[in-house]
Amino acid sequence: MEFKGRDIVSIEDFSQQEINHILDVTKTMEPLAKIGSDMLKGKILATLFFEPSTRTRLSFEAAMLKLGGSNIGFADAENASVKKGENLADTVRTVENYADAIALRHSLEGSAKLAAEFSKVPIINAGTGAEEHPTQAFTDLYTIRKEKGKIDGLKIALVGDLRYGRTVHSLAYALALYNVELYLVSPETLRMRKDVLETIKTKIPVTENADLDTIMPKIDVLYVTRIQKERFPDAAEYAKVKGAYKIDLKTLKNAKKDMIILHPLPRIDEIAAEVDSTPQARYFQQVGNGVVVRMALLSLVLGAVK
Ligand code: CP
Repeated sequence: MEFKGRDIVSIEDFSQQEINHILDVTKTMEPLAKIGSDMLKGKILATLFFEPSTRTRLSFEAAMLKLGGSNIGFADAENASVKKGENLADTVRTVENYADAIALRHSLEGSAKLAAEFSKVPIINAGTGAEEHPTQAFTDLYTIRKEKGKIDGLKIALVGDLRYGRTVHSLAYALALYNVELYLVSPETLRMRKDVLETIKTKIPVTENADLDTIMPKIDVLYVTRIQKERFPDAAEYAKVKGAYKIDLKTLKNAKKDMIILHPLPRIDEIAAEVDSTPQARYFQQVGNGVVVRMALLSLVLGAVK
């Protein structure tokens, strides 16, 4: 297993053995997140965010600072030379002169792959369009393993916008490497995109179009997602599904006591605030895990740990 200098473009580029290693390294980052480290002293991460973000960008930057490194970059491409017409390939070939790794968020599918083809330094996909969000998937897997003690043997429901939600695509690909049962719950027009579905169905049992009330008593993980309003072709299409599902205390009536609820966030109205104080709610712990996961990924691709 070699991670130094490696791009993180798609979760599909990783074997189960490699994912487990990343999760093991993440565990070793927990104490370092509290006391700090100079493991990445002298290293610079560039965060190039062409789309809005709170968690991903700030957790990458926090991860770098906790390991003694530094950050440069932009959170708003309006202020970058892309505004003057510079293309992504030239942007990357410029920034590689300033940084040891680049975390890229972009609205276009394939943009992280293209950036990786041009960049001499590792490209980390921080979310590409409706395609993938691999570092969120590592965060989700780490949270599941930490909270449930395992991944194998679990029954997991993915709920919400399975068409435009990039986190569920990366997570589904990753879960398909484990011995899990997957339930997909969504409005008809937001069902899991075909390319992801065809891949995962060959590897694990997948129940499409599952009824949430029916499966609730048996699931171990309820992974809820926001409807990705910004990816809809028009406002009328969005209006048809807006508010189509909501997890509240009534929904959870028949849930297992040790079931956990995850959400990559941001949330709009798909999980009622009353759920936040239930023992099952783990989405803010999940946010915290995003820092240690990104500490692990940065230390691996920058060669500070093997
Ligand atoms: N989970 C996630 O990608 O959140 P942000 O859009 O705030 O980065």
